[in-house]
Amino acid sequence: MSTTIFEKSSQGRKGYNISQNDINIELSNILPENLRRKEDAKLPQCSELDVMRHYIELSSKNHFIEKGFYPLGSCTMKYNPKINEAVARQSGIANLHPMQAEETVQGALQIMHELQHDLAEISGMANVTLQPVAGAQGEFVGLKIISAYHQAKGNTHKNVIIMPDSAHGTNPASCSLAGFEVKELKSNANGKVDVEELKKIVNENTAGFMLTNPNTLGLFENKIEEIAEIIHSVDGLMYMDGANFNALLGIVQPGKIGFDVMHYNLHKTFSTPHGGGGPGSGAVGVVEHLVKFLPTPMISKNDNGYFLDYSHEKTSIGKVHTYYGNFGINVRAYVYIKMLGAAGIRSVGENAIINANYLQSKLKEYYNISHADQFCMHEFVADGTIQKKKYGVSTLDIAKRLLDKGFHAPTIYFPLIISEAIMIEPTETESKQSLDKFIQAMIEIAHEIESDPESLHHAPFNTPVRRVDDVRAVKELNVRFPIEK
Ligand SMILES: Cc1ncc(COP(=O)(O)O)c(C=O)c1O
Repeated sequence: MSTTIFEKSSQGRKGYNISQNDINIELSNILPENLRRKEDAKLPQCSELDVMRHYIELSSKNHFIEKGFYPLGSCTMKYNPKINEAVARQSGIANLHPMQAEETVQGALQIMHELQHDLAEISGMANVTLQPVAGAQGEFVGLKIISAYHQAKGNTHKNVIIMPDSAHGTNPASCSLAGFEVKELKSNANGKVDVEELKKIVNENTAGFMLTNPNTLGLFENKIEEIAEIIHSVDGLMYMDGANFNALLGIVQPGKIGFDVMHYNLHKTFSTPHGGGGPGSGAVGVVEHLVKFLPTPMISKNDNGYFLDYSHEKTSIGKVHTYYGNFGINVRAYVYIKMLGAAGIRSVGENAIINANYLQSKLKEYYNISHADQFCMHEFVADGTIQKKKYGVSTLDIAKRLLDKGFHAPTIYFPLIISEAIMIEPTETESKQSLDKFIQAMIEIAHEIESDPESLHHAPFNTPVRRVDDVRAVKELNVRFPIEK
C-alpha cells in the first residue's frame, strides 16, 4: 500500500518560497478576528520533488488509455489525440471569461456556432444546443423539448414515454425527472424492439419513444422507420439516446430516418474520455419544427458577426446550465471533428464496428454471447454464465483476473437483461495486435477456469491493491485520513 501525502510530511519542509515583501499584508485588516485560525492548518509539508514523486507513483498504479487497453463497454474509452487537449488549453481559449463582451469573444462564438452546425450535419438534425453538460442532462433537455411540443399543442394527456427493457439506466430516470411515466417494452428474441408488442401499447397518451441506438446489447435497431411511423401516427416524438453514436458516425443520420430529438455524448464520441466523472457535454439536436424549443441562448451569426441568440426565448424550454455549457469540452469535440474531416469521421464508425466484430468472432467459442448470430456494432455483450454454472467462477472473478494480465476489465453486470454480463467495447483506436493480446488473455482465463477454478476467486494477484470489498466500500465510505494532533 502506498502512503498518503500526509504521511510523507516532514515538519518545516517546503515546496515553495515566497519573499516576505510579497506577503506584507496585515491579515487582520482583511479577515475579522473570529474567522482567523488559531493554529496552523494541518497540511502536509513536502518538497516539490516529494510531491512530484508521490503523484507519479500514484498515477503509475492507475490504469489509463495511454497505459493499456480499456474495453469498458458503454463508455467508449478510446485514445483521444493530444492536439484536442493542446488547443483547449491555449490561453486564448482557456482563460476567456464567460461574461466578456461578444465582440471580444468572436473566435469562441465561432467555434460554438460551427460545432452546432457540424453536429447537426453529422446527425441529420436542424440545430443543436451545446448547453447540457452530461448525457443524462441531454436526455432531460430532450424530454423537456418533447414536453414543450405537446404542451404547445394542448396535448396535456400525453404523459407516457415508451422504452425497451434494454434502455440505459439514465433513460427512465430522465423521463421521471421530466414528468413522464415510463412504459417498458420487452425486447424480442433478437435483443431488439418488438414492433408487434409496441403496436399493442401505443395509444393517445404516448408522448414519445426513447431508444438507444445501437442499443445496450451493441445491436443496431434496424426497424426505426417502422417504429417512427407507429409513434408519429399518434403524434408522439422519437427520441434517440445517441451516447453510442461512435458506431454510426458518417454512416447513419438519425434525423433522416425518423428520430426527432437526440443527445450526443461529446465526451464519449467526440474526444474527452468518459468515465472519470469529469466534465462532459450532452449536446442535443432536434429536427426543424422543434428548434424553437431549444434552450437559449443559441449561437447565431449575422452581418455583424457571431452573437448569443435569445430570439426564441418565448418558446424555449429555458436555460439549462450556467453560461453556455462546458466550453472546454466543446472545444475538444470541435478540434476532433475538424481534424478528422468527413472521411475520418466515417472511418471512426467503421473501425469501431470492425474491431468489436473481430473480438466477438474470436471469443464466442470460449464465452457465451447471446446474440453472436448477428453482427454487432461498436460493442457486444458476452457473459460468464457457462463458467458460473460449470465451475462456480463468476464474471467478477474473470474481470479481476484480467487486471493481472494488464487490461482494464470490461463493464460487468450491465446491461441488466444479460446475467453475468461482460460488455466489451474495444473502440476504433486499437490495433489488431492489441486486440489479439486481449483475445489471448481472455482465452487463457477460460482455460485457467477449467483447470483451477478456485484460484480465480482470489484474483487479482499482481495489482497494487488486491480484491477490495466493494460492498463495504460503498456502505462504509470513509476517505478521511486521520491527522495526528
Ligand atoms: C447509452 C447511454 N446513455 C446515456 C448515458 C449517460 O451519459 P452521462 O454519463 O454523460 O450522463 C450513457 C453513459 O455512458 C450511455 O452509455
